Amino acid sequence: MTSFRKRTIRDVDPSGKKVFVRVDFNVPLENGKVADDTRIRAALPTIKSLTERGAAVALCSHLGRPKGVDPGHSLAPVAARLGELLGKKIALLSDCIGPQVQAAIGRLRRGDVVLLENVRFHPEEEKNDPAFAKELAKGFDLYVNDAFGAAHRAHASTAAIATILPAYAGLLMEKELTALGSILSEPKRPFVAIIGGAKVSSKIDVLRSLIPKVDTLAVGGGMANTFLLATGRKVGLSLVEEDRAGEAARIIEQVEGDRKRILLPVDVLAAPSVDEEGAQRAVTYDVDDVPDGMAIVDIGPRTVAQYRDAIREARTVFWNGPVGVFEIDAFANGTRQIAQFMANNPGATTVVGGGESVQAVTEAGLADRMSHVSTGGGASLEFLEGKTLPGVEAIPDA
Ligand code: 3PG
Repeated sequence: MTSFRKRTIRDVDPSGKKVFVRVDFNVPLENGKVADDTRIRAALPTIKSLTERGAAVALCSHLGRPKGVDPGHSLAPVAARLGELLGKKIALLSDCIGPQVQAAIGRLRRGDVVLLENVRFHPEEEKNDPAFAKELAKGFDLYVNDAFGAAHRAHASTAAIATILPAYAGLLMEKELTALGSILSEPKRPFVAIIGGAKVSSKIDVLRSLIPKVDTLAVGGGMANTFLLATGRKVGLSLVEEDRAGEAARIIEQVEGDRKRILLPVDVLAAPSVDEEGAQRAVTYDVDDVPDGMAIVDIGPRTVAQYRDAIREARTVFWNGPVGVFEIDAFANGTRQIAQFMANNPGATTVVGGGESVQAVTEAGLADRMSHVSTGGGASLEFLEGKTLPGVEAIPDA
């Protein structure tokens, strides 16, 4: 497992230094503008700490998965938003390597901030190419990794470069590792994990890793249908992974063998089709009574109440993945309620990880009422699976 006590920017005097800072500015765009700036705001403490202490900072990020140079994947919208947040114009350099970039880095003064263009415009980035990492490192004194969201990638700007420059964790990286690390090492009890999302296949590893740590595991979303199938229920037209029912059955056995509690839906909202039209004809059923022509789209009210009670009693709650078809408003009730129940338990350590659960919390305006909302989707899951994250591994321990 990855150690989460890392050397951070607090352990170094960056005054007068040129610092290459890897951030995860892989943010959603809409009409050429940043649609959600959470990841940009999350990197501000590191940027400010370095520049206020006299460093010059060049920020490096990927955006999307471009195949070569692609103006549609330029970080220009990010530079604009970052400039608004910092209250000064942020220059976007035309590339992340090369003579022009080096000249611009050479001109940087204390307190300056620039953004390098999308590092994935170079295929060498994802190959963790050491020669490319050397090019990236040219002209810099220090390397800081604040890109927790990309820490599960062994890429040149997250891994190889840390062997070239003295490497430190940024403050966001530190915060993520501390919050997620505390769940694995010393959760206050009772500890409840709510795991949802479409597919059980993508959550098997995190379920297995969390079972020994939790007191209660609550399952929801499309993946709960596979568990219902494994317990002999019919799931009609629901999204289900029949070939994973055996694995779901073994998860239930593991939880029960460990004398833990597993909560599965006892009632569900089901609709004839998973769309707005279907929403007009959605009905709540006991899980034993879901008709052949209906698809499960959300947890039902008795299930919501059970999950509420579990969250209310908990002193640690970790949540990943929606418990219904969250993208359709009429099927988002269960997911929104989970967010609300967590916010209503301020005495508990509440940690949210993963795309749509984070979206639910943010849209409901509840992010500030959680102990921690992770900026990492895949990275937070892999961390909790107990996997080694190359971007974290590359930073020396504290
Ligand atoms: C993410 O959004 O999960 C990270 O930025 C990693 O992006 P990737 O899956 O394209 O590597």
